[in-house]
Amino acid sequence: MRPRVKEIELAVGDRRSEAWLQVHHAANRAVWGDAAQRTSIEEIVDVADRRHEVRRTFLVSEAGSDVVLAAAQTIRRTRENLGTAGLWLSVHPEHQRRGIGSLLLGHCEQTLRDDGCDRIHDHSGSPAEHGDAATGFALANGYRQTLVDLRQDVALPVDEATLDAFDPRPDPTAYVIETSVDGLPEDWLEDRAVLARRMSTDAPSGEIDLDEEDWDAERVRQLWNTPSPVWGVESVARHVPTGRLVAFTDIVVRPGQPDLAVQSDTLVLREHRGRALGLAVKLANLRALQRERPDATTVRTWNADTNTHMIAINERMGFAVTGWTREWAKHL
Ligand SMILES: CC(C)(COP(=O)(O)OP(=O)(O)OC[C@H]1O[C@@H](n2cnc3c(N)ncnc32)[C@H](O)[C@@H]1OP(=O)(O)O)[C@@H](O)C(=O)NCCC(=O)NCCS
Repeated sequence: MRPRVKEIELAVGDRRSEAWLQVHHAANRAVWGDAAQRTSIEEIVDVADRRHEVRRTFLVSEAGSDVVLAAAQTIRRTRENLGTAGLWLSVHPEHQRRGIGSLLLGHCEQTLRDDGCDRIHDHSGSPAEHGDAATGFALANGYRQTLVDLRQDVALPVDEATLDAFDPRPDPTAYVIETSVDGLPEDWLEDRAVLARRMSTDAPSGEIDLDEEDWDAERVRQLWNTPSPVWGVESVARHVPTGRLVAFTDIVVRPGQPDLAVQSDTLVLREHRGRALGLAVKLANLRALQRERPDATTVRTWNADTNTHMIAINERMGFAVTGWTREWAKHL
């Protein structure tokens, strides 16, 4: 039988959506074993609107069969970077190396072209430094590698003596650290929008040009202060003389994997760098996570492999390298 690509609508509680997700999970487990990250349909459906994304969902099956052989989602942005799409694609381990990944990828690329995109920028991860099937697959399909990130994990709790030893304790007349759990205070939102805007251009993206993101208080409110299945904690540094927020960091815990806390964005405004504020906000956030979510047993973080300073600090705090993430780009 010939495998065929079908488009589906994802829905919570829907059998086909779950079968689609299980293909991603099976492919992920084949790469990462027990350390594989999991997600849920609930989160995938929730995240699209919150991030101003349009996602289309595809699966591969054989005619007359319900068995899902491969699963993919195309991700288009609607606020900026309109021409640069993301892609999430997995082939069930029992059906790999039969051309099914290439069939589905070709279909997704054509869909994105038809939807007005001219570039794909996405990533793949592996516990092997020199990559795995995804690396061979990306290179075989004309993608070029733009960046490599190191993934590091630490087991929780990190003891208070270690946190204390690393705490840079900023001068309290210059900076104070504030923390907010599962939502941001209204009076942070304007400054937080400025920080998010800077984050969109200051984070390393390899040699690929991305637009500055158009953040305002309303967009921050929509992302962080509307009910969500994703739990988050954020710490910020406030510059005392001006009262402005000048640094932030986030940790999120997803409903599909409540034992795993994921270190998300961190930024210190350029003019306030060199004062260990990044470390100060991260430590405050880690302390809050340990207090609020005793069920989380691991924190996971990613840094560009060139960010040797941050990687070394993480190592001294007990983080160990557990994988590599490669970013890929292709003009369509
Ligand atoms: C990467 C993945 C999608 C490939 O799917 P697939 O159906 O096996 O791919 P194809 O059969 O179409 O392979 C096409 C070409 O890619 C390359 N390739 C695929 N798997 C490879 C591997 N394990 N090692 C080296 N090259 C590989 C080969 O050049 C292959 O052509 P060939 O079989 O004629 O040599 C699949 O391994 C997978 O789901 N991995 C886990 C999830 C993931 O990493 N997804 C990608 C990131 S979103």
